[in-house]
Amino acid sequence: MGKILAFSLIFSNIFIGLAVAADWSILNPRFRNELGDSLKKYCESWRINVEVNNIRDFQVVPQECVQHIQKYMTSSQYKADSEKALEEVKLFLSGFCNLKGDGKDAWIFDVDDTLLSTIPYYKKHGFGGQKRNTTSLESWMRKSKAPALTHTLDIFNEIKDKGLKIFLISSRKETLRSHTVDNLIDVGYHGWSGLSLRGLEDELLEVQEYKSAVRQRLVDEGYRIWGIVGDQWSSLGGHPSAKRTFKLPNSIYYLA
Ligand SMILES: *[C@@H]1O[C@H](CO)[C@@H](O)[C@H](O)[C@H]1NC(C)=O
Repeated sequence: MGKILAFSLIFSNIFIGLAVAADWSILNPRFRNELGDSLKKYCESWRINVEVNNIRDFQVVPQECVQHIQKYMTSSQYKADSEKALEEVKLFLSGFCNLKGDGKDAWIFDVDDTLLSTIPYYKKHGFGGQKRNTTSLESWMRKSKAPALTHTLDIFNEIKDKGLKIFLISSRKETLRSHTVDNLIDVGYHGWSGLSLRGLEDELLEVQEYKSAVRQRLVDEGYRIWGIVGDQWSSLGGHPSAKRTFKLPNSIYYLA
C-alpha cells in the first residue's frame, strides 16, 4: 500500500513537473505575461525606492526599466502624484504656518523638474537610460523652451500672494542665467526675490552643500524658511533646512 502511494506521488510529481515545463515556453503568452509582470514590479520597486531616497547616486536608469520610467513620468499618475504633494503644501500653508508678515517669511523652489520640465529633453535623449550629457542638456536649456509644470506654477503664485518671498535655488550654472530667467518668465513665473545659480566655485561643491550654503546666507539675512519644494533629495537635505520639505517625483536622474 505504502509503495503504491509513494509511486503514485513520484509519478504525479513528474507529471506536474512536465506540465509546468510545458507551460514555461517563451511562446506561451502566460509565460510572457508573468515575465512582464515581474519586470513591472521590479521597475516600480526601483522607482519607489528612488523616491524615498533608498536608492542614491544612480547614473542611469536600469536599462530594463527605462520604458517603465518613461511611461510613469509621462503619465497622468505622475501629474496626480505631483498635485498631491502640492496639495500638502497648501494644507501646510493654510493651517500650520504662523507667518510674521515682516518680509522675512521665505519659501524655496528648485527650478528643473519643479518649476520647469526637462521631460521634452529626456524624451529625445534616452529617458534616463543614457549618462547625463551636460553639453547637450545645457544647449537645450539655452533655448529657453522648457514648459512649466502648471501645478507648481499655481502653488508658486499662491505662496507669493500670501506675502512670502520666493527664492529659487538651482544647480544650473551661472552662465545659464539669462536663458533661465527668459524661460521662467515666458511660461508665467515672475516676482521671485532671488535666483541662485552655481558659479565656478559652487561647482566644486556637491549640490546639497551648495544649496545648504545658499540657505545659510538667507537665514543669516534674517529669513525664516518655511518650506522647500524640490524634485531632488539634495535640494531638501543638509542644514539649515526648512520647517517642511516637499518632494516631487523624479526618477529620471539623480543629482548628488
Ligand atoms: C554630448 O553631446 C554633445 C552635443 O550634442 C555631443 O557632441 C557629444 O558627443 C556628446 N557626448 C557624449 C559622451 O555622448
